[in-house]
Amino acid sequence: MRHHWLLLGACGWVLLILMFASKFINFRAADDYGERAGGQSWTEPGTKLLQPNPEKPAPKATDVPSVVPSVAEWQSVVEKRIELLSAVCKNNTLRNLTQVSVSKFILDRIFVCDKHKILFCQTPKVGNTQWKKVLIVLNGAFPNVEEIPENLVHDHEKNGLPRLSSFTPQEVTERLNSYFKFLIVRDPFERLISAFKDKFVKNPRFEPWYKHDIAPAIIRKYRKSHRDSDHAGSGLRFEDFVRYLGDVEGRRHMDRQFGEHIIHWVTYVELCAPCEIHYSVVGHHETLEQDASYILKAAGIEELVSYPAIPPGITRYNRTKVEHYFSGISKRDIRRLYARYQGDFRLFGYPSPDFLLN
Ligand SMILES: *[C@@H]1O[C@H](CO)[C@@H](O)[C@H](O)[C@H]1NC(C)=O
Ligand SMILES: *[C@@H]1O[C@H](CO)[C@@H](O)[C@H](O)[C@H]1NC(C)=O
Ligand SMILES: *[C@@H]1O[C@H](CO)[C@@H](O)[C@H](O)[C@H]1NC(C)=O
Repeated sequence: MRHHWLLLGACGWVLLILMFASKFINFRAADDYGERAGGQSWTEPGTKLLQPNPEKPAPKATDVPSVVPSVAEWQSVVEKRIELLSAVCKNNTLRNLTQVSVSKFILDRIFVCDKHKILFCQTPKVGNTQWKKVLIVLNGAFPNVEEIPENLVHDHEKNGLPRLSSFTPQEVTERLNSYFKFLIVRDPFERLISAFKDKFVKNPRFEPWYKHDIAPAIIRKYRKSHRDSDHAGSGLRFEDFVRYLGDVEGRRHMDRQFGEHIIHWVTYVELCAPCEIHYSVVGHHETLEQDASYILKAAGIEELVSYPAIPPGITRYNRTKVEHYFSGISKRDIRRLYARYQGDFRLFGYPSPDFLLN
């Protein structure tokens, strides 16, 4: 990236074009970029990339504006999301799916930037590695995001990005009451597909426990025909995964054994307690470009850091993909899955996937 900065001095427009081109080099697939180690296109702190880019092709989705809207315009979107969230939190019929106690597990998910009074609840598969890097730089352990070694991003002992759980109860309460708090969510079923692909099919970071421990345990309990599982190399199927996820009672014991790995598929409610913690902003992965620039401004840090360029289209909801993954899975299993994840759909305004349920 450094050569870009020399060019920036010479010609800002050349920079914009290069940034646009580099998106395609640095990002390979939609599901990769949030967790991909290394090679991200970042801008140095102090540089703004937030202005609408006239060279950018307009997104096709009708609900996504073609340029980054002004803060005022996006503010009404953000406010409506928060209004919906608090209304759904009050719905007693959904209590079981929306209310949780703010446990150590949840405080472990929340990262703290004291210098700028920011709390960020981590939800995998929505580009959260980028946010962690932003906060690490803001906390001052590294001067800019390029200098953060990849192996330190997730090493919270050493990267100067503490978890909320490392504070005393009084310090936790103070921070929850007064800091800017945000999380990013995405369509709940697309998120599960993304987690499945990333952990059980591709597993790019080579985390062997998913294939070697978790997948066999799920197959043993949930695969219908055990003859099938005798076939050589038969890995976890999405169908097995769906059955496990929808089994509210049965999976409790397994989830305890799976430990922290379940963060990739437990509900957003269980990760971030959105009804108990009054988040300032809930970003949507589907509108990450608008949300990222809004969050930086609302948190008062847009002069200090910027969020990396997001390749056009990669965060868009893909119904064809969702239909493809769920085809051949029984309605009963899909309805159970929806029953389990309905809280996330409702709280964050994602439409129920009727095309799968009926
Ligand atoms: C609460 O949720 C239930 C179940 O989804 C729904 O039928 C009902 O309309 C909701 N109530 C309100 C006030 O939104
Ligand atoms: C909520 O959970 C409790 C205990 O698990 C259960 O008895 C109750 O029926 C559930 N209520 C709803 C509305 O699902
Ligand atoms: C949506 O997903 C399908 C199936 O995975 C894929 O073939 C298609 O290219 C995707 N569409 C977009 C716009 O990304």
